[in-house]
Amino acid sequence: MLKNMWYACEFSKDITTKPKQVHILGQKLVMWRDSKGEVHCLSDLCVHRGGSLAGGWLSKDQDCVVCPYHGWEFQGDGACVKIPAHPQRGIPKKARVDSYPVREKYGFVFVFMGDLPEEERPPLPEIPELDDPNLKKIYGEYNWPVNYERATENAMDPSHAAFVHGNRFGDPDNPQVGDFDVTLTPWSGTAKIELYPPPGNSKGLWGRLFRRTIKKSGDERPMVEVRNGFFLPNIVLLYVPLPMGRMILVDANVPVGPNQTRSLYIAMRDFFKGDWADKDAHKRVAYIFEQDDAVISRQRPELLPYDLSDEMHVRSDALQVAYRRRRNELIDMGWGIDVHQIVGDGPRDTAVVIPSPARREIPELARAWTHKEVSSWQARSSNAGHAGGTSEYEERGEGTAERRIANQPAAFEAVNAPEEDTQTDEETPA
Ligand code: FES
Ligand SMILES: [Fe+2]
Repeated sequence: MLKNMWYACEFSKDITTKPKQVHILGQKLVMWRDSKGEVHCLSDLCVHRGGSLAGGWLSKDQDCVVCPYHGWEFQGDGACVKIPAHPQRGIPKKARVDSYPVREKYGFVFVFMGDLPEEERPPLPEIPELDDPNLKKIYGEYNWPVNYERATENAMDPSHAAFVHGNRFGDPDNPQVGDFDVTLTPWSGTAKIELYPPPGNSKGLWGRLFRRTIKKSGDERPMVEVRNGFFLPNIVLLYVPLPMGRMILVDANVPVGPNQTRSLYIAMRDFFKGDWADKDAHKRVAYIFEQDDAVISRQRPELLPYDLSDEMHVRSDALQVAYRRRRNELIDMGWGIDVHQIVGDGPRDTAVVIPSPARREIPELARAWTHKEVSSWQARSSNAGHAGGTSEYEERGEGTAERRIANQPAAFEAVNAPEEDTQTDEETPA
């Protein structure tokens, strides 16, 4: 699990003036929206006696969160501004908790889990489809007992489609994956990948429209270009052109703990755009997650290996290899956190936290923080410092499949409406 990253971890609509507990990287955090509409995120660990601030409420002016145990009040920057038992005395500087920077974009709340100053932080992802008013969007979540890196890799894995989702996207009788290049920036990897379309035996609304549309266009079943990619640390995008229009799925895989992921999804479509079709669309997304869950929750080891040579990679795994290599470079930089330190199965007598920017910004507090920092995780491997090594297909001379570009591009420049207008807004439920 990586620190110093912006984690999409909630939907904006769900953060209100009622403090909410949010779990990321084995940490408990509290989030709330203040009187000006700004979202704040603090460590949910009161410095006084470890009370949970999320169990409290907002102050009268709605700007501070009040600890429910002895009523200490903490403002958005983490500083305690009121100790009700001693109103006449000053507040010690040490009375503060870690505060994590927050940004809102595309309907997600992003929290920066780390201590880098603003100018050194990675950028937020650019996914223009999430701003496209022609796409109908639905928002939901799926919780599963898997590590978020396994979940994230699964969503960028084209060769599992024919086997795990053969009735949705991918054809079990034609599982071939066309060769593809990965376009890499320091914070993302994207690819256009050719797959055979599913046989069209899906049930329900979409299945009927699917069959009706392919009947019109004859028996030709050419390969379709699926687009797939990751945005570090936890967002994955999948674009599937269907005969009746575009289907785009964006998942933010929130690492609740080492073996628990909360996948927040935004599913977009440009057909069946009425609200009446939303329930069916949610059911379809849940079905896809359930298909993945059955496989991913049985994967071993549960956590993603560091050494590339610990699992075998073929050419169609190029996106995951690019993802692992970049993740390993960041671990080599000290951005991996020791998950064993922060999450335990039973009661414990110490609590450590992910350092927030104030730890660097306020040097006179350097040794005064009540809660200690979690240690960085160092890979114990001969490949440590070398991004985990290389993959077999590269060693066999089949190329790295990676095309590096410096700046973050718009996610998929080419994800535009299909040339022929296949919109079927007028469709009504059969
Ligand atoms: S534990 Fe929070 S005020 Fe005492
Ligand atoms: Fe999948």
